Amino acid sequence: MIKVTFVSADGVRRTVEADEGLSAREAALFNSVPGIDGDCGGVCACATCHVHVDDAWIERVGLPEEGSMESDLIQFAEGTTATSRLACQIPMATELDGLILHLPELQH
Ligand code: FES
Repeated sequence: MIKVTFVSADGVRRTVEADEGLSAREAALFNSVPGIDGDCGGVCACATCHVHVDDAWIERVGLPEEGSMESDLIQFAEGTTATSRLACQIPMATELDGLILHLPELQH
């Protein structure tokens, strides 16, 4: 199991465990972590699973590939930063054990 910590906009930390291959969106939703809507079901079509990858993890997680659906769609998320990703596009992998993701104040 891979541990991932979601930090809400007001600083509440929730650490959950996810199987390899699940997305960070699924890790949040399956564990009732508030702050990730994921309205499109995880098919990269809504941008309501926006997260800010912790600075210490962005190199390992990586940025959306240029020209990808994610890089096009993420522009519609509010308050994006240099470490913004869509959680449905972050697959849980053993090298991401301990990952920290910060949640935006709003998803719309
Ligand atoms: S769940 Fe819709 S874009 Fe991620």
